[in-house]
Amino acid sequence: MTYYTGSRTVEYLELAKRMLPKKFWSEESIVTGFIVAEAKGSYLIDVEGRKFVDLTSQWSTNNIGNVHPEVLEAAIEGLKQYGFLIYGLNLHKPVFSLVEELLKIAPSKKLTRVALELSGTGAVDAAVKFCVGVKKRPHIITFMGQYHGYYTGTLGYGPESADIRKNYETLYGSSAIILPYPDTYRKPEQMTSEEWGKFIIDYIQDYILTYVAHPERIAGVLFEPIACEAGIWIPPDSFIHGLRRLADNYGWFLIADEVMTGFGRTGKWFAIEHWGIDVELMPLGKGLCGGIFPIAAVYGSEEAMASEEIDYGTTFGGHPAGCLAAIENIRIMKREKLVERAAQLGEEALKRMRDWPERYDIVGDVRGKGMLMAVEFVKDKKLKTRNPQATRQVYLESIKRGVVPLMDHGDWTLRIQPPLTIEKDVLMESLDIIEECIKMVDNSFKGR
Ligand SMILES: Cc1ncc(COP(=O)(O)O)c(C=O)c1O
Repeated sequence: MTYYTGSRTVEYLELAKRMLPKKFWSEESIVTGFIVAEAKGSYLIDVEGRKFVDLTSQWSTNNIGNVHPEVLEAAIEGLKQYGFLIYGLNLHKPVFSLVEELLKIAPSKKLTRVALELSGTGAVDAAVKFCVGVKKRPHIITFMGQYHGYYTGTLGYGPESADIRKNYETLYGSSAIILPYPDTYRKPEQMTSEEWGKFIIDYIQDYILTYVAHPERIAGVLFEPIACEAGIWIPPDSFIHGLRRLADNYGWFLIADEVMTGFGRTGKWFAIEHWGIDVELMPLGKGLCGGIFPIAAVYGSEEAMASEEIDYGTTFGGHPAGCLAAIENIRIMKREKLVERAAQLGEEALKRMRDWPERYDIVGDVRGKGMLMAVEFVKDKKLKTRNPQATRQVYLESIKRGVVPLMDHGDWTLRIQPPLTIEKDVLMESLDIIEECIKMVDNSFKGR
């Protein structure tokens, strides 16, 4: 955080130290260290007038670029016409219009209903309530490395890391059964990725259901189709299909958390489409609104949403302006064919990065689907020892050169999640810059 110079930046950082929580100014902080004065398309401009390529799309929220004018206009019109209305009290027209649009792009015929929320955390929380409330069973199976939100409820179901759960362990009881997610880079050496996925499914069947919880006491499985915060873990087919089989056998709901992976990010409207399975509940957030006005949603099946009356929601969930922004966002994504673009451009970007593990000792793995990509850093390739130090150095060096990737608690991976609208040459030049930084840091690690 002491990385950036410039008198205005220093002033703001001093203010941050005096006024903001420690996470914004500690040495370990993951914030970028520059202060944004303007956001536009694929760029961020800071208070010193420096321009940065935004490879984060603000954590996959601004999938159609920063401040899309048409979405902005739609939100403003919504505010003028409706201001704010609580949709749990006053159903309003934009709710119907948005739900209609969402149902048109639903990844499965089984998803026939939509609940609206405010944030991804709220959407996951609502999905778990629908699941447990309808099934009337206490347990949810969930997986290590997954993130479903920072609030204490979703923290219980999203054990992204021991770090973020530290001190809050007792706040959320024991209803979550937390199991390994098949991280195929760190799979047991003797297994193929498919065998690793199958092993976890068999482990649930043979051990969890025998020794931990009776299958009739499990309401459902909450999973990320790709575990994003964990470092873009792309599961093998055997895992996803195995979950569906277990759910069918025991009457569980599958809840696919698509808050990060939804809205074209992986080269499909929703990541679950890569496996073609049905799910009963699917929380959405982030990319739904084009980054302009907070709104989130949950797709649900008839059984999940119409067999029982389940209370969920928060005051500002389903805000009229958010609904109208989301409708406009979906319209633009269709018009610009952004889902197809994400698949194609993501493939080209991944191709550009593919040989990094061969070229650099500190790069253990490069992986991705669509515009959701990750580079994992190691100290030792054979042992796959994680290398947070190298990751942080590459991260900061990239920002210094005007390119902003994403780094989080699993800080041995650098993630690249640009807007789906990013200009191809800007993306490729940014990857050149990141590679330059990797080369530099790689050299500095040689002989250590
Ligand atoms: C998969 C997933 N679920 C839920 C959330 C929580 O969403 P929000 O931060 O909008 O509450 C996130 C946020 O990063 C996420 O990645």
